[in-house]
Amino acid sequence: MLRFLTRLTTPAPEKKPATPQEYFSRMPPVETPRLLLRRMTLRDASDMYAYSRDEEVARHVLWTAHTSIWETKAYIRWVMQQYRLGAPSSWCIVDKAGGHVVGTIGFMTWQPDNATVEVGYSLSRSHWNRGFMTEALTAVLQECFTTLRLHRVEAQHFSANPASGRVMAKCGMTHEGTLRRRICNKGEFMDVEMWGILRADWEARHTAE
Ligand SMILES: CC(C)(COP(=O)(O)OP(=O)(O)OC[C@H]1O[C@@H](n2cnc3c(N)ncnc32)[C@H](O)[C@@H]1OP(=O)(O)O)[C@@H](O)C(=O)NCCC(=O)NCCS
Repeated sequence: MLRFLTRLTTPAPEKKPATPQEYFSRMPPVETPRLLLRRMTLRDASDMYAYSRDEEVARHVLWTAHTSIWETKAYIRWVMQQYRLGAPSSWCIVDKAGGHVVGTIGFMTWQPDNATVEVGYSLSRSHWNRGFMTEALTAVLQECFTTLRLHRVEAQHFSANPASGRVMAKCGMTHEGTLRRRICNKGEFMDVEMWGILRADWEARHTAE
């Protein structure tokens, strides 16, 4: 009887997604000591617009600073469509202390044949330099190598944005080279720093701990 009641009242543990597409469609929540990464919804638009309108946040990313909340909503709608398609997209980052969305992190590309993703992120200026993105990326890498069972995770940043490279280094990624004048950002061809981490690197780092 007790076992029956326990079964009725205890929520079933969430089943791990079996394939990357299933993972991308569910984007299961990921919790860290200070952050919650979760699927975004249109209710997050005003929090996200608050930092997406900041030219400093947009300086070293491929999007331009939003000039109206409708641009933020259009982005969220696109992400929600990616969830529906089971295609790579992002979580929003909630600061658990304040309960607000303060950034995004997620998958820019997915190469199924190479079991490789590229990750990308951005964070509200009010939260910079407090280790938040290092905390978020560490958790995403853990998802990549444990749940998604990937072989390699890549990330890139403009050479003019060393803080992003510092996040990648702190998360155990390796600097693999500079791609000269690779991407035209806001009218200027920019040098790009390429970083990667292999499953073997990640396992070595985590068994050593
Ligand atoms: C880049 C970004 C994600 C970093 O997030 P964050 O939460 O501030 O990162 P962390 O606090 O975990 O780490 C930042 C590191 O960069 C260092 N740093 C900051 N500014 C720096 C600079 N100009 N040059 C070198 N290092 C710098 C910090 O000192 C810190 O390193 P430390 O812990 O060794 O002191 C954040 O600044 C951001 O969202 N910027 C705007 C969007 C963006 O650039 N996204 C990335 C695109 S590739």
